[in-house]
Amino acid sequence: MRYRRGQEIDVEVERVAIEGRGVGRVDGIVVFVDKGLPGERVRARVSRVKRSFVHARVVEVVRPSPLRIPGRCVHLPLCGGCTWQELDYEAQLDAKTGLVQEALERLGGFRGIEIPRALASPERFFYRNKMEFSFFAGSDGEPVLGLHTPGTFDRVFDLEACHLMSESSNAIVARVRDLARRSGLAAYHSRRHEGFWRYLVVREGKNTGQTMVNLVTNAGPLPNRGEVVDTLKREVPALTSLLRNINTRRATIAVGEEQELLYGAAEIDEILAGLRFRISANSFFQPNPRQAERLFELVCDWADPSGGDEILDLYAGTGVISLFLARRARRVTGIELARSAVADAERNAQLNGVDNCRFLAGEVRDFFKRRAAEARVARLVIADPPRAGLHADVVRALRLLRPVRILYVSCNPSTLARDLQLLCRDDFFRLRRVQPVDMFPHTYHVETVAELVAQSPS
Ligand SMILES: C[S@@+](CC[C@H](N)C(=O)[O-])C[C@H]1O[C@@H](n2cnc3c(N)ncnc32)[C@H](O)[C@@H]1O
Repeated sequence: MRYRRGQEIDVEVERVAIEGRGVGRVDGIVVFVDKGLPGERVRARVSRVKRSFVHARVVEVVRPSPLRIPGRCVHLPLCGGCTWQELDYEAQLDAKTGLVQEALERLGGFRGIEIPRALASPERFFYRNKMEFSFFAGSDGEPVLGLHTPGTFDRVFDLEACHLMSESSNAIVARVRDLARRSGLAAYHSRRHEGFWRYLVVREGKNTGQTMVNLVTNAGPLPNRGEVVDTLKREVPALTSLLRNINTRRATIAVGEEQELLYGAAEIDEILAGLRFRISANSFFQPNPRQAERLFELVCDWADPSGGDEILDLYAGTGVISLFLARRARRVTGIELARSAVADAERNAQLNGVDNCRFLAGEVRDFFKRRAAEARVARLVIADPPRAGLHADVVRALRLLRPVRILYVSCNPSTLARDLQLLCRDDFFRLRRVQPVDMFPHTYHVETVAELVAQSPS
């Protein structure tokens, strides 16, 4: 049967797939249902038709899943963030474990790997330490400030309350929206490439109580600068850093070419497992710090370095994994592309009195090309790449290097499965164990740690 957009169909949702959509079948055709939960029957409107599958959105839940629970957020119908907030948390963990299993089997070709259940996050709500809110020109011309509606990069709703970061981050959103409206300047319009207000980024040190507010704007003076600084100082008692990042490019990212310090320090501090990390506005830092502590402890536990080990920490960010491991290794070399993160990592080593870590700025693939001799001494490699996974050159370099073990920390099961398959080809490495970790409750995202052991050349 042929489907057409707008048509309504009844679907039995059997399971969830990568991207978090419910999956069912109607007349032999696979139907991906946004926000459909396993075990329920929904009436859904077809939004996209392909030859072998269709996408549809729930119009009505005809028979709810026994795993369906009431969501707590007023923005659920509009927001693209918490796709699984109405799915029981234990079922979320099972679903995430299933996503990793499915990726490793279907995309990686691994059979018979036992995958333990995803580790639960210690906090289910208010776990995030960083959030990015977008400005958008409302129908009355006033700046709207909030989060994106799903499937759109240029539609934003005014956020009242989000349950992922903190009550005080919600208050900051309200204050900054008000200040933006009082400035008389418009929100940035991406297609016209005009307007002033672009993003608000809030960052918190959950274990230090510090708060950073980063206003990302187009070029030009901030007309009510005094009012902005005074209001935020007065109304955000934890404020320790107020910045403005100026992004004049078309790129819709919350990172500026220039940064202006409006109040306090240019960084905030966080403490994980007794180590202090100083983080600047544009550096990556794991967004769920309490669970990050567990993730890094797991990595240390599996890495179990001996005092004589040389370790490579690829995609090192602000040096967190390096510093966790440094206490038990001879030396750790971290490779990281973002210069701000490398500077943070070097300072973090100093702050913690660690003198056996060094950090090199640049692309991981260039490191292997230019400094192959230095790479060769490493017995243990940690790789924590972005969602795209490892570049093919990096996979080739790792196969050539063949360290005793590789610990791969991944935020994307699909690219993890692809890279593990390439690394293990011809029995170069064996996949020893895998552990999914839930860093982002209520979303379909899942972090995975995988350990590879080199096989002796035949
Ligand atoms: C998932 S983060 C991991 C950071 C760190 N391991 C942590 O947990 O805090 C990935 C990091 O890789 C960096 N990165 C992205 N592409 C890179 C590349 N081609 N070479 C080196 N670093 C890269 C990013 O800037 C980011 O800091």
